[in-house]
Amino acid sequence: MTGHMNHLVEADRIEGPENDAGYWGNSPLNKICNERRAIKFFCKQHQVEQSIVDKLILNSSLAPSAFNLQHWKVLQIKDTALRRQISEYSWHQPQISDASVLLVVLLDKFAWRRADRLKNNIPCDETRKKFESTLINIYEQNEKLGRDEAMRSSSMFSMLLMLNAHEQGLMSCPMTGCDFEGLQSLLKLGNEYEVCMLIALGKAAQENRVRERKRLNLSSIMQVM
Ligand SMILES: Cc1cc2nc3c(=O)[nH]c(=O)nc-3n(C[C@H](O)[C@H](O)[C@H](O)COP(=O)(O)O)c2cc1C
Repeated sequence: MTGHMNHLVEADRIEGPENDAGYWGNSPLNKICNERRAIKFFCKQHQVEQSIVDKLILNSSLAPSAFNLQHWKVLQIKDTALRRQISEYSWHQPQISDASVLLVVLLDKFAWRRADRLKNNIPCDETRKKFESTLINIYEQNEKLGRDEAMRSSSMFSMLLMLNAHEQGLMSCPMTGCDFEGLQSLLKLGNEYEVCMLIALGKAAQENRVRERKRLNLSSIMQVM
């Protein structure tokens, strides 16, 4: 690595003491962040009502997104045969087959072309037309940026979904341990959508053991400039 990134690599190498016990506060959000863990073993029998899943998806769409384009789309996989196929493309991770709810969060690489969906947000025709031409200027010649922004926005949605789920008493596991190309064709995603991540939701099985939590210390992740 050359040039101006060197100082970040140096910072990454710093080994520090374990995080202080006082790392987390006691606010409701801190509690959720502290308790949320990515778990491997879900209770197979546990069921989640569809109305709760629907609410989780809606509440999580309060996540921020670039230009408020809301680049996420969610596939809820209920079909057992399809789950089995997804499992084959996901290293047979037990969460895929056992969790009460399996979601595939997609990113819409071309959400910027679908700004007309935001008609309700921007009722004024003239303002919306300006907005649409801004989007074309930014994204038409830069497909990578459109995809990157969609990935960022869908990841924000995914994080919020897991926090909301936790608040509803559901454990979760985000997963990208999968064959993305395999899933792309299995789920017939075409050229416009990609898998952002899979998210399993449910109750932890009795045999689930949560590992001790390890995080880098402040000096490894932050530099004041
Ligand atoms: C993008 C992403 C992909 C992940 N993929 C997997 C996965 O395929 N399987 C799995 O068991 N955990 C997966 N995890 C969970 C991480 O291993 C876990 O978040 C990390 O070890 C920290 O633990 P914690 O979430 O319990 O704090 C993934 C997490 C993220 C953010």
